[in-house]
Amino acid sequence: MYDKLWLRYAGESQKKNARRVILSCGEKNNVLNAAITELKTVFSADAITVDTEAKDAPAGEGFLIRNKGGALAVSSQTGAGVLYGVFTLLRLLNTGRIDENFVQIADSPKISWRILNHWDNLDRSVERGYAGKSLWKWDDLPKIERRYVDYARIVASVGINGSVLNNVNANPIFLTSEYLKKTAALADVFRDYNVKVFLSVNFAAPISLSGLSTADPLDDAVRLWWKNKAAEIYALIPDFGGFVVKADSEGQPGPYAYGRNHADGANALADALSPHGGIVIWRAFVYGHGETDRAKKAYTDFKPLDGKFRSNSAVQVKNGPIDFQPREPVHPLFGAMKETSLFMEFQITQEYLGQGEHIVFLAPMWKEILQFGIRFPDEDSENQSSVGKVLEEKKLSGVAGVSNIGDNYDWCGSLFHSANLFAFGRLSWDWTLDPADIALEWSVLTWGNDPTVVDAVVKILTNSWEACIDYMTPLGLNHIMRYEHHYGPDPGCDQGSRADWKPPYYHRADARGLGFDRTRNGSDAVDQYAPLVADIFNDIKTCPEKYLLWFHHVPWDYTLRSGRTLKDELAFRYRRGVGEAEQLRAWWRLVKGRVPPDRYKAVLDKLDAQVADAHEWEAVCVKYFLSFAERA
Ligand code: GCU
Repeated sequence: MYDKLWLRYAGESQKKNARRVILSCGEKNNVLNAAITELKTVFSADAITVDTEAKDAPAGEGFLIRNKGGALAVSSQTGAGVLYGVFTLLRLLNTGRIDENFVQIADSPKISWRILNHWDNLDRSVERGYAGKSLWKWDDLPKIERRYVDYARIVASVGINGSVLNNVNANPIFLTSEYLKKTAALADVFRDYNVKVFLSVNFAAPISLSGLSTADPLDDAVRLWWKNKAAEIYALIPDFGGFVVKADSEGQPGPYAYGRNHADGANALADALSPHGGIVIWRAFVYGHGETDRAKKAYTDFKPLDGKFRSNSAVQVKNGPIDFQPREPVHPLFGAMKETSLFMEFQITQEYLGQGEHIVFLAPMWKEILQFGIRFPDEDSENQSSVGKVLEEKKLSGVAGVSNIGDNYDWCGSLFHSANLFAFGRLSWDWTLDPADIALEWSVLTWGNDPTVVDAVVKILTNSWEACIDYMTPLGLNHIMRYEHHYGPDPGCDQGSRADWKPPYYHRADARGLGFDRTRNGSDAVDQYAPLVADIFNDIKTCPEKYLLWFHHVPWDYTLRSGRTLKDELAFRYRRGVGEAEQLRAWWRLVKGRVPPDRYKAVLDKLDAQVADAHEWEAVCVKYFLSFAERA
């Protein structure tokens, strides 16, 4: 048994038969059948009518839900659209948003690809996974389990339409015929829920799997190898999504070994996939190789390649320039790659945000990034666009989320961590949604509609991210977590073989002050943004304080907007963070007796750990940083 997450349909199941539902779909397929099956969890079979009258219905993944003489009518040209319409209808009913005055709602995704990236390994370990083992039982596949179907239902219910099954640090074995058959079995299950399967591939697979002497992307034998591999895959999985590639990053092989660049690498794979309609998603997570400021590296390498990628390849860029920190400014590549398809990469699993222990709702972080006003260097000040809009307007674009799913009872690490999976789906479907509204939906769907519970859950969710920033990395601090596993504070850590894996590289504390100087007097990372944005970040007076220590080395006695000096403000923020963590727990205590006792206790245990950890963060960081200030 495992948790039903937000698909409990608690309130609605008692109302069976109360309404009629009409599904109008331009095609008859298994996706439509999945939609009907889902409806039957709430409506009795004889209340459901299905027709093919979809002449004026929305196309693609879009749908229309309307009140048709008292019946609820869902229409779309496609089974996928009807499926999303049905999940939306059920969500609206269960959150009390459809009443007798309901007229109609039309919706369609703003961004075409909404993909989960599983960092799952062959042995069922999950890189940065905190919710048990991988769901995929490679030893037993192609044998199918019920949980694979539920996975597809859950992710489809929030609009996710792609799943990358394996870790970006990719084992070449996934491209062998034996494993492709296993992948095909999962694709067969997911297809019914409009979820396409992707694989992470190892760039050197032609060498390791077939003994080629090179993986040079311009070598004919290598190109033929990828073409044949693509043909083999599509014979098994006709709607295979494509490849995700981590190349020349953290030891992964890539085109640099052959004097080629990232576009050469991506295009070789894109050419192999294009006859079949597949795409290659090439990650921009690169650093090292002689760059003194890690935050600058991806832009330095990728910006010159703008316009050089094939139309079926996209560059996948992490939301910030370093690595999924509690808060980062937006990655400058989103304002630089005008001619290149882009994917936004978010991390749903909370590698640097308390992992499976801390309750931290990430929708406000993702929203901050998606609504950031980015500008393009060659355009004037009028042409500001939000990052979400930039993605929306590209022909090929997507949002990828590093999954937090594992085989635990609760799927995502705790009974609250699924809020992030839910929010990822909702925001990648429509980046304009309000995080507080997403929190409200999740709360009602998951915990029921007792107003005391809803109020507490929403408050916990909506306040948790800023709380976490305060007790971990206030004012733009980042990457001060413990070595390798990234849980807990260790700002003085000196472990690891590279400087840019060590916290002091990021915080630069000394007797004078704190923070990384990325201004024009420092690493000049600010100038990777368009001039107007760069000017704001470059000036300590206009730089938003949330990014202060990201962009500036700030003197300890510098006065912040609060009137406090940096030294005092830092201590104040850490203290405030502890108070905020305690407040999250206090809100939860208000629901005692209103939710099942085992669920109450499971969440309370997490919050106890979070509060204890917040105290540790404060104690360690204030002592450490202030020891520098005291030398001033
Ligand atoms: C982070 C993470 C790694 C991961 C890498 C990536 O550095 O710690 O485990 O492999 O990101 O995104 O490729």
